[in-house]
Amino acid sequence: MSSSSSIADSPPAGNPQAPGVIYVQGVPTSDTRLTLGASILVSPMAIGTWAWGDSTWGYKPEMFDDIAATWEALQEESSGINFFDTAEIYGRGESERIIGRLLKRSEENGKPKPVIATKFIPFPWKLNYPSCLLNAAKGSMERLGVDVIDLYQIHGPIHLRSIEVVADALAEAVKLGLVKAVGVSNYSIDQTVRMHAALAKHGIQLASNQVEFSLLRRYPETSGLIAKCHELGVAVLAYSPLGMGRLSGKYSAENPPPSSRKFSNYPMTELKPLLTIMERIAKEHDVPMTAVALNYTICKGTIPLGGARNPEQARQNAKALGWRLSDKEIEELESVALIGSTGFIWQHG
Ligand SMILES: NC(=O)c1ccc[n+]([C@@H]2O[C@H](COP(=O)([O-])OP(=O)(O)OC[C@H]3O[C@@H](n4cnc5c(N)ncnc54)[C@H](OP(=O)(O)O)[C@@H]3O)[C@@H](O)[C@H]2O)c1
Repeated sequence: MSSSSSIADSPPAGNPQAPGVIYVQGVPTSDTRLTLGASILVSPMAIGTWAWGDSTWGYKPEMFDDIAATWEALQEESSGINFFDTAEIYGRGESERIIGRLLKRSEENGKPKPVIATKFIPFPWKLNYPSCLLNAAKGSMERLGVDVIDLYQIHGPIHLRSIEVVADALAEAVKLGLVKAVGVSNYSIDQTVRMHAALAKHGIQLASNQVEFSLLRRYPETSGLIAKCHELGVAVLAYSPLGMGRLSGKYSAENPPPSSRKFSNYPMTELKPLLTIMERIAKEHDVPMTAVALNYTICKGTIPLGGARNPEQARQNAKALGWRLSDKEIEELESVALIGSTGFIWQHG
């Protein structure tokens, strides 16, 4: 274990439902492992795979080779990143199918199996719980080619059935051995507390809440959501930590990101003061700007799910590990960072 000696590398013995350490308290490194639920050990950052197979990101089948090279680079090099996030809805199952192909290759090449998180999309017209959730989990397992899903998340609070009904369905999936750990996404503080309590009745720890968190959306911190999750032993997964590419330094007012990138969709002119400070801090640490964006979310007690579309992006983003922003740098970044807001339908948290 490296300098992050406060990080547990196994769940506490004797209490299978007690959560282990769920966020980085020192310097995040390639050796650091955090505990989701009671048993899943993950790296302090993950790779988000929405862009793998999805038209929102202009995916075309000829991009598969770049994705495979990204996966292989992460396995070959000592990044330590062992955690990937997907969803049944990404590319209508294509993201899961791509990961399934890559898992098979890794197995054939004798590589360790990474941790895969996927998500159930609880469309309001799905009313027949637990069967709609159990059938969806089996569909994801088939596309991923796995016997069990490591982390199964409710994609957003859009279900019409109560949180307790959804919790019962998640518990059933655990009891049937379809999933190891369960999480939610886009849940507010109250919704998280309710889901945590409903799962606890089954002896299951709510493993995670996945929300948009970045220097463009500090809301989960300012609202108290991150602190509440930590109090409950719930890890916070930070989605769109690079502002869908806006915090990478390659987009500007003259060269804006594609209009399909809807989260934190601010005009690039508004981001100039933040990007200027990020660029200076990145130079001082000799890392890319994306590493500053990701390191910030780690310093705030979350596990970022940065998207990467090629090996170079994955390598650059892995430079978020091995160092930590100082309190002064964080203060400076926050003086120009944005808070963001919630949405009526999707982003409650
Ligand atoms: N639960 C939810 O509701 C929800 C919602 C959104 C996302 N997510 C999850 O969070 C993950 C990450 O979020 P995200 O994909 O929206 O956005 P993101 O991680 O903020 O940005 C990813 C994009 O930034 C660009 N990028 C990444 N590394 C770069 C680098 N080193 N240099 C330059 N550009 C770089 C790439 O796009 P280009 O190269 O094309 O610019 C990449 O696809 C998703 O994949 C998904 O797993 C969940």
